[in-house]
Amino acid sequence: MCNEIYLETIDCSQEPPQEEPARQYCYMAKCREWVKDFEQRNGYRPKACVVNMGCQMNARDSEKLLGILRQAGYDCVEGEDADFVIFNTCTVRDNANQRLYGRLGVAHGHKRRNPHMKIALCGCMMQEAAVIEKIQKSYSFVDLIFGTHNLYKFAELLYQCLTGTGMVTDIWDGADQIVEDLPAERKYAFKSGINIMFGCNNFCSYCIVPYVRGRERSREPKDIIREIERLAADGVVEVMLLGQNVNSYGKTLADPVSFAQLLQEVEKIEGIKRIRFMTPHPKDLSDELIQVMKHSGKICRHLHLPLQSGSTRILQAMNRRYTKEQYLLLADKLKKEIPDLSITTDMIVGFPGETPGDVDETIEVVKKVGFDNAFTFLYSKRSGTPAADMADQVPAEIAKEGFDRLLKVVQETAAQRARRFAGQTAEVLVEGVSEHGAGLVTGRMSGNMLVHFPGDAGLTGQFVTVRLEECRGFYYIGKQNGR
Ligand code: SAH
Ligand code: SF4
Ligand code: F3S
Repeated sequence: MCNEIYLETIDCSQEPPQEEPARQYCYMAKCREWVKDFEQRNGYRPKACVVNMGCQMNARDSEKLLGILRQAGYDCVEGEDADFVIFNTCTVRDNANQRLYGRLGVAHGHKRRNPHMKIALCGCMMQEAAVIEKIQKSYSFVDLIFGTHNLYKFAELLYQCLTGTGMVTDIWDGADQIVEDLPAERKYAFKSGINIMFGCNNFCSYCIVPYVRGRERSREPKDIIREIERLAADGVVEVMLLGQNVNSYGKTLADPVSFAQLLQEVEKIEGIKRIRFMTPHPKDLSDELIQVMKHSGKICRHLHLPLQSGSTRILQAMNRRYTKEQYLLLADKLKKEIPDLSITTDMIVGFPGETPGDVDETIEVVKKVGFDNAFTFLYSKRSGTPAADMADQVPAEIAKEGFDRLLKVVQETAAQRARRFAGQTAEVLVEGVSEHGAGLVTGRMSGNMLVHFPGDAGLTGQFVTVRLEECRGFYYIGKQNGR
């Protein structure tokens, strides 16, 4: 296991072992020697910065990168002018790619001023051959590139990058192993994301994720439970189980386990008070899962259930494998079984062939379900996906018009839903000091709504009962009960 003493006992002059994770621990020890030597030569400890540019799955990967950098002895900072900067990229929409190129330009400026600086790129965008080609050609100042499948090899690649010259590139097409027991650094002391599976087999026709994250692979339940038990022992009270399609968890294991069964096991772990998960797919949402949620004292009253479109014709073209009617029935069933449930969603506007009439149908579903919140995205063409080659790509101005119409209804619906809590009391988990005013802290309700209320940083990580006094659209201003 990972700890200081273990690394100190590794003899760096020996050939690293072949088996994982021992091999990576050996490289962490080697990096640590390099860092010590850097400190002696330059009179300061080198700084490292991990920039997360993607979803929760990427955020969790960033914590793993940070854990390894910390083990290597780096001083981990937020500033992108550090001695080692790694961008953990996303490529789900084109604007994610554009953001990276902008940030790289700035990083190049820092590198010109700091001769020690190394720039690394990893994550989903690096799994695209065209991106690698562009970086090798136009961004040759980058020192290290690797993808999503070999993230566990980061210590080894870091060592190669620190001790070599020229760009180190290591991209794999797929992965067959899941390496357990590598270090990770948590952003929050009291809550943590946990990968329960990797990859996606759904191939929604617009989506690049299955191509850059590979096939679906579930972690063994015992590894997940052990990780959560350790987190609980370390003070974590809220866990978020992560996967691209969590309710297909366990189907590919030698001893198949359902997602609902996994949740029941997590529920038994002492110290864990709240359980969240992200993202379930409507087509796989079983009655078993609804019943487990309904009877659970720990699973939060929030379900993020991506709709994508309210038009059955478009849903079919998207390969989502449910109809508008099936989604509506599912939402009805959920609300009937779990009346205090908040439902949020993702929607795409401008998918090839979409007409204003299709957007009307999406708006109709938003009104009928009454989403508590929704992320609305403009369709972004991803090369290599089936939708990129479809006829009838929607002109940008038509898509934008539909997007604005949908967004307006989403905002009205969400504000109306938020108002139902006015005057009630709720238990919140305090996440830290609020950005909404001096002297305020931010708490999160079980249904995912944020409440800002007077308090100090000392409340962070605690459960507090608050009165919900003033609804401000998507959040509340409250007061601690009894004050
Ligand atoms: N696995 C999750 C999340 C995938 S990515 C799921 O199935 O819901 C998060 C969201 O990005 C998706 O729900 C979708 O709404 C959006 N998205 C994915 N590909 C997109 C594309 N090409 N253009 C616009 N939005 C996209
Ligand atoms: Fe993409 Fe669909 Fe997989 Fe979600 S379920 S990651 S939208 S392919
Ligand atoms: Fe982006 Fe990869 Fe997540 S493409 S949305 S960071 S899985």
